[in-house]
Amino acid sequence: MDGWKKRLAWLRVLPEPVPADRDTPLKTAEFEKELFFGGRKETVRLLKDDALGEGYEILPTDLGYDVRGGETGVLYGVYALIRALTAASALPRGVRKPYYDLRMLDSWDNMDGTVERGYAGRSIWFEGNAFAYDPARIRQLGRMLGSVGINALCLNNVNVHQPAQRLLEDLLPKVREFAALLRPFGVRIMLSVDFSQPMQHGLDTADPLDERVQGWWRETAKRVWEAIPDLAGFLVKADSEHRPGPNTYGRTHAEGANMLARAIAPYGGKLVWRAFVYNCMQDWRDTKTDRPRAAYDLYMPLDGQFDGNVILQIKHGPYDFQIREPLSPLLLGMKKTSLALELQLAQEYPGQQIDLYAMPPMWREILDEMGKEKVRAVAAVSNLGRDDCWTGHPFAALNLFSYGLFSWDPDSEAEETVRQWVRMTYALEKGQEDTLTEWLLRSRSIYEKYAASLGLCWMITPNSHYGPNPYGYEFQAWGTYIRADRNAVGIDRTEKGTGYVSQYPEKLREMYARPETCPDGLKLFFHRLPYDYRMRDGRTLIQRLYDDHFEGAEEARAMAEALKTLELPEADKREMLERMDKQLLNAREWRDVVNTFFHRFSGAEDEQGRKIYD
Ligand code: GCU
Repeated sequence: MDGWKKRLAWLRVLPEPVPADRDTPLKTAEFEKELFFGGRKETVRLLKDDALGEGYEILPTDLGYDVRGGETGVLYGVYALIRALTAASALPRGVRKPYYDLRMLDSWDNMDGTVERGYAGRSIWFEGNAFAYDPARIRQLGRMLGSVGINALCLNNVNVHQPAQRLLEDLLPKVREFAALLRPFGVRIMLSVDFSQPMQHGLDTADPLDERVQGWWRETAKRVWEAIPDLAGFLVKADSEHRPGPNTYGRTHAEGANMLARAIAPYGGKLVWRAFVYNCMQDWRDTKTDRPRAAYDLYMPLDGQFDGNVILQIKHGPYDFQIREPLSPLLLGMKKTSLALELQLAQEYPGQQIDLYAMPPMWREILDEMGKEKVRAVAAVSNLGRDDCWTGHPFAALNLFSYGLFSWDPDSEAEETVRQWVRMTYALEKGQEDTLTEWLLRSRSIYEKYAASLGLCWMITPNSHYGPNPYGYEFQAWGTYIRADRNAVGIDRTEKGTGYVSQYPEKLREMYARPETCPDGLKLFFHRLPYDYRMRDGRTLIQRLYDDHFEGAEEARAMAEALKTLELPEADKREMLERMDKQLLNAREWRDVVNTFFHRFSGAEDEQGRKIYD
């Protein structure tokens, strides 16, 4: 039950819990300072300067350091100082402020205790359709989030299942108690709301233009913000995967979002509206409808129509958190709407916190391609759960840690962030530290080779989303096809095909439009190509598919050998090894199943004569 108390993730240098009487960020900062510097020679002074808000400045003094900052800024400053000293990285210089004001962690926790796409055990705060938690664990969670600058936690799943609607109703006092536990760490609560909720209260409609509906939401917002004045906002998934929404009433998403936004505006609340909307009832024979086009087609015409406190939250790719997708063109196209970039820490498609998949290199690519200034906020689907180690695989904590640092400073470097996590988490000698850092940085490309070579998404087992099944989604209604046959594979998304490519600005459009200039990693995302197509390196397409799968499985094996040598705390080592054994089986299965699939279609032999399982 209490195993988590010994599992401190990256906070091993702060081994005592923050006491319950530390009820403000400043008091928490004082505690953390005493704890860390208690046995050290430096003297640290905390200087509160409200003008700095979440910002801080660390000033070296003759005796140690002064940390100056707003109420929460001081806390962030103390954590930044502790990180820099523990990881022997450069001290932050000058006044530091977060680039994004809203840095959200979206939990997909259901009130029955399950976590949608959760790979780290059950919910930390819900069980049996009620709140059920150890307050000490929630404080420790707040500390983890605060220590890396995450400042908003959405408590419940975007798919709002009964009785989560009650969080706005009779369970509101419980939400209030919960919010109080996180406040000393600078973390505010958000709630996912059900667009049709007024209909549970005697109304026969949820039409956003109906005055009774508007009134219901206004009253509700008033009650909610009275109970929790610093609630960050509401998160909404509407008209998506069978969730209710404004389309039912012939209203636009701007009309739907603005109605809610106006109800919460008086309290400074943000209305975060998800752009994950597509036709999930597609006929696979329909080759005109192309799911990646959906969000842009729907939202671009609405640019400029959203109220100022609406934030449109857009997944980084146009599909759904696949291993490699191009950037969502909506992130580049919308100019008059506040946007949030949505990432997924939960490894739904990338190995479910069994296989290793460190995300910072991917985020670096996404942010570089997008330009950090395109969005006003960031959100990430949580990878946390009730497991002792918090994240299923102890190394998956790296993704939560790094997300915090990237959301604070989107110019963060992947390697430096990974190394900082390694040093914060483990006291390894230099050689071992390098080994772990190096393999973490390579882990994404290894997984990609065996699970999503050349941009082929969706060859995954339907529903569970772990393990290979190349045709699993091929005849389903989700719009997720690879269209492999004996002649070719991939989807033509050029002007001659679905036209998706035309949603990009010119430079990208031109690059993606021609197979010769389209990056290898996205080749079959944008193009339909025959198996004997010549890649830039001279190999045929089919040979490249074989090679990637053989190499991916082989590199996973080499990674397992290397990581076995690490001297880690006993529980971390045991959990890592157990998961590594499963990853190796998974990688081999991907290799064999996908290679066999394409071998049977193409009839082409592997040039290297390796055995293709048949
Ligand atoms: C994915 C995931 C769902 C989730 C959805 C979303 O499709 O599989 O479980 O509800 O994303 O982001 O809303």
